[in-house]
Amino acid sequence: MHPEDRAITSHLSIPSSFAPAEEDKTVLRIWGRQTLQGQVKISGAKNSALVVMAGTLLCADDCLLRNVPSLVDVARMGEILTALGVKLKRQGNTLAVNASHIGESKAPYELVSQLRASFFVIGPLLARLGAARVPLPGGCAIGARPVDLHVRGLQAMGADVQIEHGTVHAYVKGGKRRLQGARIYLDCPSVGATETLMMAATLAEGETILENAAQEPEVVDLANFCRAMGAKIQGAGTNKIVITGVSKLHAADYSIIPDRIEAGTFLLAGAITQSEISLAPVIPDHLAAVIAKLRGMGADVVTDAPNQVRLIPAQKLVATDLKTLPFPGFPTDMQAPFMTLLTLSEGNSVITETVFENRMQHVAELNRMGADITVKGNLAIVRGVPRLSGAPVVATDLRASAALVLAGLAADGVTTIQQLQHLDRGYENLEAKLQGLGAKLKRVEAEPETADLPVQSLV
Ligand code: EPZ
Repeated sequence: MHPEDRAITSHLSIPSSFAPAEEDKTVLRIWGRQTLQGQVKISGAKNSALVVMAGTLLCADDCLLRNVPSLVDVARMGEILTALGVKLKRQGNTLAVNASHIGESKAPYELVSQLRASFFVIGPLLARLGAARVPLPGGCAIGARPVDLHVRGLQAMGADVQIEHGTVHAYVKGGKRRLQGARIYLDCPSVGATETLMMAATLAEGETILENAAQEPEVVDLANFCRAMGAKIQGAGTNKIVITGVSKLHAADYSIIPDRIEAGTFLLAGAITQSEISLAPVIPDHLAAVIAKLRGMGADVVTDAPNQVRLIPAQKLVATDLKTLPFPGFPTDMQAPFMTLLTLSEGNSVITETVFENRMQHVAELNRMGADITVKGNLAIVRGVPRLSGAPVVATDLRASAALVLAGLAADGVTTIQQLQHLDRGYENLEAKLQGLGAKLKRVEAEPETADLPVQSLV
């Protein structure tokens, strides 16, 4: 990294209420069974913003990213880019990025260990600099999260990749500066591997074909961002993506798509509190599987404008089975929140989690609130109950946190959620948005659990 680059400090503000590293000592207190009303604004997609930010490393000009959500994970990605020499300036939800002087090709371990998505920088660093040293991202609460598909794809493109002492050392072989196009078949449609290899291929020599590629909207968003920088990419959104390498990419001004998982979570907030609420902006096609499941349970989702939807609650929620799959299947990130809705539906539901091996940790906490769920491997059998009851609960991961918030909104009495650092990673201003819809919840300092507090105590 150039000396003057070291002086670069990230202008990306980490929201003061987010203590990125240490455990969050505050708790979220929710007074349940409040009907919601009105309209909620959906923020930019976390899983698009993170990879698009990594994608700015491909370009030596100024890039402007709009609709970037203010989240702990986004702030962490900003820190990682800054450590690599990128200049960042945030103004509201707009991020000005300049990666003209990326010198250091090593992402710092202490930052990578806090954000798995930081591994996304390996493809752009290799493509831009011909070398990259990125700490191996560890597993997380929901699974081992290997990166073998990323590594094997980069090797197919001519990179020598060694993993030593927990760091991935990669460089373009044979003294070449550029990766070589290749035909790559992904053993599974990995979102991250598709994104890493697509970014690497934009500056490679020749054509790269990714087969069995992930089709998630965030992959398409990244492809559209790269195309805005002048990349030649065809087929994003299908299982076959063809990238023709170019020698250089140019400046781009790009707006991130709305977050489909946040939108899905708010649809569930309406369904579980029997409330008619509106959401915008939303891309309905990104929520097709979730909307189909809600309709199958007796709720409905109507489109009032090209990017606005409204949840019509069901008088009686009917149980349904659920199986998570790569897009366009039912999204794994909606499994935990949707399970909460199923705990209150009439009948029994079988939920099958096929994407991650350990994504049922929310079950124990939901059962403490009166749910009746049995887990067998990657299956959860949910027997509907008439009521949930508020309780102190502990969040274990990002989407489990959302599941517990929904449970608190529906439960009798008060729910207190601890370990809020998970929630703050992926939902922008969640409390304020829910309060704006009439929910009664408040972030307070942790204290010994007392008996249920009456609603009027909410000051
Ligand atoms: C992305 O993770 C998302 N994260 C996840 O969202 C999301 O759940 C996931 O895609 C699936 O949609 C970001 O975009 C930052 P994968 P990613 O590679 O890329 C296996 C959230 O809550 N696999 O599609 O890590 C892997 O073990 C987060 O917002 C390999 O075996 O997901 C998993 O079983 C959670 N080898 C499956 O593929 C590899 O090299 C899907 O993983 C890569 C993945």
